[in-house]
Amino acid sequence: MKRKGVLIAFEGIDGTGKTTQIALLAEALRQRGLSVVVTREPTDGQYGRKIRELYKNRKSVTPEEELALFLDDRREHVAQVIAPALAKGQVVLTDRYYYSTAAYQGAAGHDPQKIIAANELFAPVPDMVIMLEAPVSLGVHRVQKLRGETLNDFEQEGALARVADIFARLTGANIRRIDGTADAQAVHALVMAVVVELF
Ligand code: TYD
Repeated sequence: MKRKGVLIAFEGIDGTGKTTQIALLAEALRQRGLSVVVTREPTDGQYGRKIRELYKNRKSVTPEEELALFLDDRREHVAQVIAPALAKGQVVLTDRYYYSTAAYQGAAGHDPQKIIAANELFAPVPDMVIMLEAPVSLGVHRVQKLRGETLNDFEQEGALARVADIFARLTGANIRRIDGTADAQAVHALVMAVVVELF
């Protein structure tokens, strides 16, 4: 797979500010003249839509079927969006990637390291993973009180503590951990300070 572009994945539990920070970073990079693609998982494709149907009813599939759906969604995402953009030399910012599978499906009983290995057979390894960190209680507060959303079946607080714990233990030379508790502009400054390493 030819790769001229740059892939940055944003990861972290719900309510850590991934979507806000991606928008701010995309704007900053575009102002510097870069061609930026913003994308997310679960996608809006056939498998991503099936995953969203599970938000209210996770128990309708087995943990194995659930893991397979995230992998199928990612395979399609890589083939249709990520790989073509990287081949064109674009900067790809993805809101969640396979580290989320390691953490969320890991919290559901799968081996996180095996999940990462299975993904790296087909998914490009990110040049950088921005791991946004905040206490589970703050993330839940932001989702429920500030966004007025209810927690989906992947986001129940007990499970989220396990998810956060797996995120905290993941290691890799490409991982940058950033405190996501401050206001959006302050966090953006921290993000910019690490992203400049890539350019
Ligand atoms: P979120 O990122 O908030 O997306 P949206 O609200 O726009 O649909 O939620 C995605 C949910 O899917 C989140 O609770 C985490 C879960 N998830 C996994 O369990 N495994 C994965 O591999 C991915 C990408 C997401």
